[in-house]
Amino acid sequence: MSTATAEKLRFMADELADLESKGLRASIRTVESPQGAWLQVDGKRVLNLASNNYLGLANHPHLVEACKMAMEQYGVGPAAVRTIAGTMSLHVDLEQRLARFKGAEAVIALQSGFTANQAALGSVVGREDAIFSDELNHASIIDGARLSRAKIIVYPHNDAVALANVLERETEYRRRLIVTDGVFSMDGDIAPLADLADVADRYGCLLMVDDAHGEGVVGRGGRGIIDHFGLHGRVDIEVGTLSKAFGVVGGFIAGPKLLVDYVRTRARPNLFSSAMTVPDTAAALASIDLMEASTDLVDRLWANARFFQDTLRGLGFDLGKTQTPITPVILGDAPLAKDFARRLYERGLFTVAIGFPTVALGQARIRVMPSATHSQDDLAFAAEQFAAVGRELRVVG
Ligand SMILES: Cc1ncc(COP(=O)(O)O)c(C=O)c1O
Repeated sequence: MSTATAEKLRFMADELADLESKGLRASIRTVESPQGAWLQVDGKRVLNLASNNYLGLANHPHLVEACKMAMEQYGVGPAAVRTIAGTMSLHVDLEQRLARFKGAEAVIALQSGFTANQAALGSVVGREDAIFSDELNHASIIDGARLSRAKIIVYPHNDAVALANVLERETEYRRRLIVTDGVFSMDGDIAPLADLADVADRYGCLLMVDDAHGEGVVGRGGRGIIDHFGLHGRVDIEVGTLSKAFGVVGGFIAGPKLLVDYVRTRARPNLFSSAMTVPDTAAALASIDLMEASTDLVDRLWANARFFQDTLRGLGFDLGKTQTPITPVILGDAPLAKDFARRLYERGLFTVAIGFPTVALGQARIRVMPSATHSQDDLAFAAEQFAAVGRELRVVG
Protein backbone atom coordinates (compact mmCIF):
# COMPACT_ATOMS: atom_id res chain seq x y z
CA MET A 1 0.00 0.00 0.00
CA SER A 2 1.37 3.41 -0.89
CA THR A 3 1.94 6.04 1.84
CA ALA A 4 -0.79 8.20 0.37
CA THR A 5 -3.30 5.33 0.47
CA ALA A 6 -2.24 4.39 4.01
CA GLU A 7 -2.92 7.97 5.04
CA LYS A 8 -6.41 7.94 3.46
CA LEU A 9 -7.24 4.59 5.06
CA ARG A 10 -5.83 5.43 8.49
CA PHE A 11 -9.37 5.68 9.94
CA MET A 12 -9.82 1.98 9.17
CA ALA A 13 -6.72 0.96 11.08
CA ASP A 14 -7.80 3.14 14.03
CA GLU A 15 -11.30 1.70 14.06
CA LEU A 16 -10.10 -1.92 13.83
CA ALA A 17 -7.57 -1.35 16.63
CA ASP A 18 -10.33 0.14 18.79
CA LEU A 19 -12.60 -2.88 18.17
CA GLU A 20 -9.70 -5.22 18.91
CA SER A 21 -9.01 -3.51 22.24
CA LYS A 22 -12.68 -3.93 23.25
CA GLY A 23 -12.77 -7.60 22.27
CA LEU A 24 -15.26 -6.79 19.51
CA ARG A 25 -13.20 -7.71 16.44
CA ALA A 26 -14.23 -11.05 15.00
CA SER A 27 -11.37 -13.52 14.67
CA ILE A 28 -12.23 -15.83 11.82
CA ARG A 29 -11.26 -19.48 11.82
CA THR A 30 -11.03 -21.49 8.62
CA VAL A 31 -12.94 -24.74 8.16
CA GLU A 32 -10.85 -27.23 6.20
CA SER A 33 -13.28 -30.17 6.07
CA PRO A 34 -16.86 -30.74 4.93
CA GLN A 35 -19.56 -29.47 7.28
CA GLY A 36 -20.77 -31.97 9.88
CA ALA A 37 -20.74 -32.71 13.60
CA TRP A 38 -16.93 -32.75 13.62
CA LEU A 39 -14.76 -30.40 11.59
CA GLN A 40 -11.14 -29.78 10.80
CA VAL A 41 -10.63 -26.12 11.79
CA ASP A 42 -7.23 -24.43 11.49
CA GLY A 43 -5.59 -27.84 11.53
CA LYS A 44 -7.48 -29.14 14.58
CA ARG A 45 -10.33 -31.69 14.82
CA VAL A 46 -13.13 -30.01 16.73
CA LEU A 47 -16.80 -30.56 17.54
CA ASN A 48 -18.85 -28.13 15.49
CA LEU A 49 -21.30 -26.09 17.54
CA ALA A 50 -21.26 -22.98 15.40
CA SER A 51 -23.00 -23.72 12.07
CA ASN A 52 -26.60 -23.18 11.00
CA ASN A 53 -26.54 -26.67 9.51
CA TYR A 54 -29.57 -27.63 11.60
CA LEU A 55 -30.42 -30.86 9.79
CA GLY A 56 -26.94 -31.79 8.60
CA LEU A 57 -27.89 -31.25 4.95
CA ALA A 58 -24.89 -29.09 3.98
CA ASN A 59 -22.90 -32.23 3.29
CA HIS A 60 -25.69 -34.76 2.77
CA PRO A 61 -25.02 -37.36 0.04
CA HIS A 62 -28.50 -36.85 -1.49
CA LEU A 63 -27.75 -33.15 -2.00
CA VAL A 64 -24.24 -33.83 -3.33
CA GLU A 65 -25.63 -36.35 -5.82
CA ALA A 66 -28.38 -33.94 -6.91
CA CYS A 67 -25.74 -31.23 -7.55
CA LYS A 68 -23.61 -33.57 -9.62
CA MET A 69 -26.54 -34.69 -11.76
CA ALA A 70 -27.79 -31.15 -12.28
CA MET A 71 -24.33 -29.91 -13.24
CA GLU A 72 -23.99 -32.76 -15.77
CA GLN A 73 -27.24 -31.59 -17.32
CA TYR A 74 -27.15 -27.80 -16.90
CA GLY A 75 -23.59 -26.78 -16.04
CA VAL A 76 -22.89 -24.43 -13.16
CA GLY A 77 -23.94 -20.82 -13.60
CA PRO A 78 -27.22 -19.21 -14.63
CA ALA A 79 -25.23 -16.65 -16.65
CA ALA A 80 -27.83 -13.92 -16.29
CA VAL A 81 -30.41 -12.27 -14.09
CA ARG A 82 -33.75 -14.04 -13.90
CA THR A 83 -35.55 -11.50 -16.11
CA ILE A 84 -33.05 -11.74 -18.98
CA ALA A 85 -31.83 -15.30 -19.59
CA GLY A 86 -31.26 -16.64 -16.07
CA THR A 87 -34.58 -18.39 -15.36
CA MET A 88 -33.86 -22.09 -15.72
CA SER A 89 -36.37 -24.89 -15.36
CA LEU A 90 -34.63 -25.80 -12.09
CA HIS A 91 -35.58 -22.39 -10.63
CA VAL A 92 -39.18 -22.86 -11.68
CA ASP A 93 -39.22 -26.36 -10.13
CA LEU A 94 -37.71 -25.04 -6.92
CA GLU A 95 -40.29 -22.27 -6.65
CA GLN A 96 -43.17 -24.69 -7.15
CA ARG A 97 -41.79 -27.24 -4.68
CA LEU A 98 -41.07 -24.55 -2.06
CA ALA A 99 -44.59 -23.13 -2.42
CA ARG A 100 -46.04 -26.59 -1.84
CA PHE A 101 -43.73 -27.27 1.11
CA LYS A 102 -44.51 -23.95 2.78
CA GLY A 103 -48.23 -24.06 1.97
CA ALA A 104 -48.01 -20.75 0.06
CA GLU A 105 -49.66 -19.76 -3.23
CA ALA A 106 -46.37 -18.85 -4.86
CA VAL A 107 -42.64 -18.39 -4.30
CA ILE A 108 -39.85 -16.40 -5.92
CA ALA A 109 -36.31 -17.72 -5.39
CA LEU A 110 -33.51 -15.21 -4.83
CA GLN A 111 -29.78 -15.34 -4.19
CA SER A 112 -29.92 -15.29 -0.39
CA GLY A 113 -32.10 -14.54 2.59
CA PHE A 114 -30.33 -11.20 2.83
CA THR A 115 -31.34 -10.19 -0.70
CA ALA A 116 -34.84 -11.62 -0.20
CA ASN A 117 -35.40 -9.10 2.62
CA GLN A 118 -34.06 -6.32 0.42
CA ALA A 119 -36.29 -7.46 -2.43
CA ALA A 120 -39.44 -7.66 -0.31
CA LEU A 121 -39.04 -4.43 1.66
CA GLY A 122 -37.43 -2.52 -1.19
CA SER A 123 -40.32 -3.20 -3.55
CA VAL A 124 -43.45 -3.36 -1.39
CA VAL A 125 -43.06 -0.11 0.54
CA GLY A 126 -41.61 3.29 -0.31
CA ARG A 127 -41.17 6.88 0.77
CA GLU A 128 -44.84 7.47 1.67
CA ASP A 129 -45.08 4.35 3.84
CA ALA A 130 -44.06 3.17 7.30
CA ILE A 131 -42.35 -0.02 8.45
CA PHE A 132 -42.96 -1.18 12.02
CA SER A 133 -39.95 -3.29 12.90
CA ASP A 134 -39.18 -5.38 16.01
CA GLU A 135 -36.17 -3.93 17.85
CA LEU A 136 -34.25 -7.22 17.54
CA ASN A 137 -34.86 -7.82 13.84
CA HIS A 138 -31.99 -9.16 11.73
CA ALA A 139 -29.60 -6.76 10.00
CA SER A 140 -30.95 -7.76 6.57
CA ILE A 141 -34.42 -6.55 7.58
CA ILE A 142 -32.94 -3.31 8.92
CA ASP A 143 -31.00 -2.74 5.71
CA GLY A 144 -33.99 -3.66 3.52
CA ALA A 145 -36.12 -1.22 5.48
CA ARG A 146 -33.54 1.56 5.01
CA LEU A 147 -33.35 0.79 1.31
CA SER A 148 -37.12 1.17 0.93
CA ARG A 149 -36.98 4.79 2.16
CA ALA A 150 -40.10 4.21 4.21
CA LYS A 151 -40.22 5.68 7.72
CA ILE A 152 -38.89 3.05 10.14
CA ILE A 153 -40.63 2.81 13.49
CA VAL A 154 -39.05 0.33 15.90
CA TYR A 155 -41.34 -1.39 18.43
CA PRO A 156 -40.27 -3.18 21.64
CA HIS A 157 -39.23 -6.78 21.18
CA ASN A 158 -42.13 -9.22 20.72
CA ASP A 159 -44.59 -6.73 22.23
CA ALA A 160 -47.83 -6.83 20.22
CA VAL A 161 -49.60 -4.52 22.68
CA ALA A 162 -46.91 -1.84 22.40
CA LEU A 163 -47.05 -2.26 18.61
CA ALA A 164 -50.81 -1.69 18.62
CA ASN A 165 -50.32 1.49 20.67
CA VAL A 166 -47.78 2.78 18.18
CA LEU A 167 -50.07 1.94 15.26
CA GLU A 168 -52.88 3.85 16.96
CA ARG A 169 -50.73 7.01 16.79
CA GLU A 170 -48.78 6.53 13.56
CA THR A 171 -51.49 6.74 10.95
CA GLU A 172 -50.34 9.21 8.31
CA TYR A 173 -48.96 6.81 5.77
CA ARG A 174 -50.04 5.34 2.45
CA ARG A 175 -49.18 1.76 3.54
CA ARG A 176 -48.08 0.34 6.87
CA LEU A 177 -46.07 -2.86 7.12
CA ILE A 178 -45.18 -4.83 10.26
CA VAL A 179 -42.01 -6.93 10.00
CA THR A 180 -40.51 -9.43 12.39
CA ASP A 181 -38.07 -12.29 12.54
CA GLY A 182 -39.98 -15.54 13.10
CA VAL A 183 -37.29 -17.11 15.27
CA PHE A 184 -34.82 -14.54 16.60
CA SER A 185 -31.37 -15.58 15.50
CA MET A 186 -29.36 -14.52 18.55
CA ASP A 187 -31.85 -15.44 21.30
CA GLY A 188 -33.83 -18.33 19.82
CA ASP A 189 -37.17 -16.95 20.97
CA ILE A 190 -40.23 -17.00 18.73
CA ALA A 191 -42.24 -13.97 17.59
CA PRO A 192 -45.88 -13.89 18.80
CA LEU A 193 -46.99 -14.18 15.19
CA ALA A 194 -50.68 -14.92 15.89
CA ASP A 195 -50.92 -11.73 17.99
CA LEU A 196 -49.08 -9.76 15.31
CA ALA A 197 -51.51 -11.11 12.68
CA ASP A 198 -54.45 -9.91 14.83
CA VAL A 199 -52.83 -6.47 15.17
CA ALA A 200 -52.15 -6.36 11.43
CA ASP A 201 -55.81 -7.19 10.71
CA ARG A 202 -57.10 -4.66 13.22
CA TYR A 203 -54.99 -1.80 11.81
CA GLY A 204 -55.05 -2.82 8.14
CA CYS A 205 -51.28 -3.37 7.97
CA LEU A 206 -49.26 -5.70 5.80
CA LEU A 207 -47.50 -8.39 7.83
CA MET A 208 -44.09 -9.79 6.91
CA VAL A 209 -42.08 -12.50 8.68
CA ASP A 210 -38.50 -13.63 8.12
CA ASP A 211 -38.44 -17.40 8.65
CA ALA A 212 -34.66 -17.88 8.29
CA HIS A 213 -34.29 -19.82 11.57
CA GLY A 214 -37.76 -21.40 11.45
CA GLU A 215 -37.31 -23.23 8.16
CA GLY A 216 -36.49 -26.88 8.75
CA VAL A 217 -36.85 -26.31 12.50
CA VAL A 218 -40.37 -25.32 13.58
CA GLY A 219 -43.75 -26.27 12.12
CA ARG A 220 -44.76 -29.73 10.90
CA GLY A 221 -41.64 -31.43 9.53
CA GLY A 222 -39.82 -28.08 9.52
CA ARG A 223 -42.38 -26.22 7.39
CA GLY A 224 -41.63 -23.04 9.28
CA ILE A 225 -43.12 -20.38 11.50
CA ILE A 226 -46.41 -19.88 9.65
CA ASP A 227 -47.10 -23.59 9.86
CA HIS A 228 -46.05 -23.58 13.53
CA PHE A 229 -48.85 -21.13 14.35
CA GLY A 230 -51.30 -22.43 11.70
CA LEU A 231 -51.40 -18.95 10.14
CA HIS A 232 -51.55 -19.93 6.47
CA GLY A 233 -53.14 -17.11 4.49
CA ARG A 234 -52.80 -14.57 7.34
CA VAL A 235 -49.19 -13.47 6.81
CA ASP A 236 -48.80 -11.45 3.62
CA ILE A 237 -45.07 -11.80 3.01
CA GLU A 238 -42.76 -14.59 4.13
CA VAL A 239 -39.03 -14.39 3.57
CA GLY A 240 -37.00 -17.57 3.71
CA THR A 241 -33.41 -18.67 3.41
CA LEU A 242 -31.97 -21.80 1.89
CA SER A 243 -28.66 -21.11 3.63
CA LYS A 244 -29.43 -22.65 7.01
CA ALA A 245 -31.50 -25.84 7.51
CA PHE A 246 -31.73 -26.38 3.73
CA GLY A 247 -27.95 -26.69 3.69
CA VAL A 248 -27.19 -24.59 0.58
CA VAL A 249 -27.17 -20.89 -0.29
CA GLY A 250 -30.22 -19.03 -1.52
CA GLY A 251 -33.32 -17.19 -0.41
CA PHE A 252 -36.95 -16.79 -1.32
CA ILE A 253 -40.17 -14.88 -0.78
CA ALA A 254 -43.41 -16.82 -0.33
CA GLY A 255 -46.94 -15.44 -0.35
CA PRO A 256 -49.95 -14.74 -2.55
CA LYS A 257 -49.31 -15.11 -6.28
CA LEU A 258 -50.03 -11.40 -6.79
CA LEU A 259 -47.28 -10.46 -4.32
CA VAL A 260 -44.80 -12.79 -5.98
CA ASP A 261 -45.68 -11.46 -9.47
CA TYR A 262 -45.22 -7.93 -8.14
CA VAL A 263 -41.84 -8.69 -6.53
CA ARG A 264 -40.66 -10.39 -9.75
CA THR A 265 -41.40 -7.21 -11.67
CA ARG A 266 -40.32 -4.62 -9.11
CA ALA A 267 -37.60 -6.01 -6.85
CA ARG A 268 -34.13 -4.85 -7.80
CA PRO A 269 -32.29 -7.97 -6.55
CA ASN A 270 -34.39 -9.93 -9.04
CA LEU A 271 -33.88 -7.46 -11.86
CA PHE A 272 -30.22 -6.63 -11.35
CA SER A 273 -28.47 -9.60 -9.73
CA SER A 274 -27.89 -13.03 -11.20
CA ALA A 275 -30.05 -16.02 -10.35
CA MET A 276 -29.19 -18.85 -7.92
CA THR A 277 -26.53 -21.21 -9.25
CA VAL A 278 -27.40 -24.62 -10.71
CA PRO A 279 -25.90 -26.70 -7.86
CA ASP A 280 -27.51 -24.55 -5.16
CA THR A 281 -30.90 -24.83 -6.84
CA ALA A 282 -30.62 -28.59 -7.38
CA ALA A 283 -29.43 -29.13 -3.81
CA ALA A 284 -32.30 -27.08 -2.41
CA LEU A 285 -34.71 -29.30 -4.34
CA ALA A 286 -33.00 -32.34 -2.84
CA SER A 287 -33.41 -30.85 0.67
CA ILE A 288 -37.13 -30.56 0.10
CA ASP A 289 -37.18 -34.25 -0.98
CA LEU A 290 -35.63 -35.22 2.34
CA MET A 291 -37.83 -33.00 4.48
CA GLU A 292 -40.99 -34.18 2.71
CA ALA A 293 -39.97 -37.84 3.00
CA SER A 294 -39.48 -37.93 6.78
CA THR A 295 -39.48 -35.84 9.94
CA ASP A 296 -36.59 -37.88 11.41
CA LEU A 297 -33.96 -35.15 11.05
CA VAL A 298 -36.18 -32.46 12.53
CA ASP A 299 -37.11 -34.78 15.42
CA ARG A 300 -33.46 -35.57 16.08
CA LEU A 301 -32.56 -31.86 16.02
CA TRP A 302 -35.14 -31.13 18.73
CA ALA A 303 -34.17 -34.14 20.87
CA ASN A 304 -30.53 -33.02 20.73
CA ALA A 305 -31.42 -29.41 21.49
CA ARG A 306 -33.53 -30.39 24.53
CA PHE A 307 -30.81 -32.69 25.87
CA PHE A 308 -28.10 -30.06 25.47
CA GLN A 309 -30.12 -27.15 26.84
CA ASP A 310 -31.34 -29.15 29.86
CA THR A 311 -27.75 -30.17 30.62
CA LEU A 312 -26.38 -26.63 30.36
CA ARG A 313 -29.20 -25.17 32.46
CA GLY A 314 -28.54 -27.88 35.05
CA LEU A 315 -24.93 -26.69 35.18
CA GLY A 316 -26.11 -23.16 35.95
CA PHE A 317 -25.65 -21.44 32.57
CA ASP A 318 -27.96 -18.61 31.52
CA LEU A 319 -29.60 -19.56 28.18
CA GLY A 320 -31.87 -16.51 28.05
CA LYS A 321 -35.34 -17.14 26.69
CA THR A 322 -34.70 -19.56 23.88
CA GLN A 323 -37.63 -21.66 22.64
CA THR A 324 -35.78 -23.32 19.79
CA PRO A 325 -32.49 -25.21 19.19
CA ILE A 326 -30.59 -21.87 19.11
CA THR A 327 -28.74 -21.97 22.43
CA PRO A 328 -27.34 -18.61 23.59
CA VAL A 329 -24.94 -19.04 26.51
CA ILE A 330 -25.08 -15.50 27.82
CA LEU A 331 -21.84 -14.26 29.38
CA GLY A 332 -22.25 -10.48 29.29
CA ASP A 333 -18.78 -9.14 28.72
CA ALA A 334 -17.35 -9.37 25.15
CA PRO A 335 -13.72 -10.14 26.21
CA LEU A 336 -15.05 -12.83 28.60
CA ALA A 337 -17.06 -14.42 25.77
CA LYS A 338 -13.98 -14.38 23.50
CA ASP A 339 -11.81 -15.93 26.19
CA PHE A 340 -14.50 -18.55 26.83
CA ALA A 341 -14.68 -19.49 23.14
CA ARG A 342 -10.86 -19.65 22.91
CA ARG A 343 -10.65 -22.01 25.87
CA LEU A 344 -13.44 -24.17 24.44
CA TYR A 345 -11.51 -24.41 21.18
CA GLU A 346 -8.42 -25.57 23.06
CA ARG A 347 -10.63 -28.29 24.54
CA GLY A 348 -11.93 -29.36 21.10
CA LEU A 349 -15.13 -27.33 20.65
CA PHE A 350 -15.73 -24.96 17.75
CA THR A 351 -17.92 -22.14 19.04
CA VAL A 352 -18.01 -18.45 18.27
CA ALA A 353 -18.29 -15.54 20.67
CA ILE A 354 -20.86 -13.02 19.51
CA GLY A 355 -20.75 -9.43 20.70
CA PHE A 356 -21.82 -5.92 19.73
CA PRO A 357 -23.17 -4.93 17.21
CA THR A 358 -24.70 -8.36 16.51
CA VAL A 359 -26.13 -8.33 20.06
CA ALA A 360 -26.53 -5.41 22.47
CA LEU A 361 -23.52 -4.19 24.48
CA GLY A 362 -23.16 -6.21 27.66
CA GLN A 363 -25.06 -9.15 26.16
CA ALA A 364 -22.09 -11.00 24.61
CA ARG A 365 -22.60 -14.70 24.31
CA ILE A 366 -21.58 -17.94 22.76
CA ARG A 367 -24.35 -19.08 20.47
CA VAL A 368 -24.37 -22.86 20.38
CA MET A 369 -26.12 -24.58 17.50
CA PRO A 370 -26.90 -28.23 18.20
CA SER A 371 -27.86 -30.12 15.05
CA ALA A 372 -29.39 -33.37 13.91
CA THR A 373 -25.90 -34.67 13.09
CA HIS A 374 -24.64 -34.59 16.69
CA SER A 375 -24.78 -37.73 18.82
CA GLN A 376 -25.73 -37.46 22.49
CA ASP A 377 -22.12 -38.38 23.31
CA ASP A 378 -20.97 -35.38 21.28
CA LEU A 379 -23.28 -33.10 23.21
CA ALA A 380 -22.39 -34.61 26.59
CA PHE A 381 -18.71 -34.02 25.72
CA ALA A 382 -19.56 -30.42 24.78
CA ALA A 383 -21.42 -29.85 28.06
CA GLU A 384 -18.44 -31.19 30.05
CA GLN A 385 -16.14 -28.68 28.34
CA PHE A 386 -18.60 -25.82 28.99
CA ALA A 387 -18.71 -26.84 32.66
CA ALA A 388 -14.90 -26.92 32.91
CA VAL A 389 -14.38 -23.54 31.24
CA GLY A 390 -17.35 -22.09 33.15
CA ARG A 391 -15.65 -23.05 36.41
CA GLU A 392 -12.22 -21.79 35.24
CA LEU A 393 -13.73 -18.39 34.43
CA ARG A 394 -16.09 -18.40 37.43
CA VAL A 395 -19.20 -18.18 35.28
CA VAL A 396 -20.73 -21.17 37.07
CA GLY A 397 -19.98 -22.64 40.46
C1 LIG B 1 -33.11 -13.77 10.50
C2 LIG B 1 -32.19 -13.86 9.31
N1 LIG B 1 -32.62 -13.37 8.12
C3 LIG B 1 -31.84 -13.43 7.03
C4 LIG B 1 -30.58 -13.98 7.08
C5 LIG B 1 -29.75 -13.99 5.85
O1 LIG B 1 -29.81 -15.22 5.22
P1 LIG B 1 -28.73 -15.60 4.11
O2 LIG B 1 -27.55 -16.13 4.83
O3 LIG B 1 -29.42 -16.60 3.25
O4 LIG B 1 -28.42 -14.35 3.37
C6 LIG B 1 -30.10 -14.49 8.27
C7 LIG B 1 -28.73 -15.06 8.32
O5 LIG B 1 -27.97 -14.89 9.21
C8 LIG B 1 -30.92 -14.44 9.42
O6 LIG B 1 -30.50 -14.92 10.59
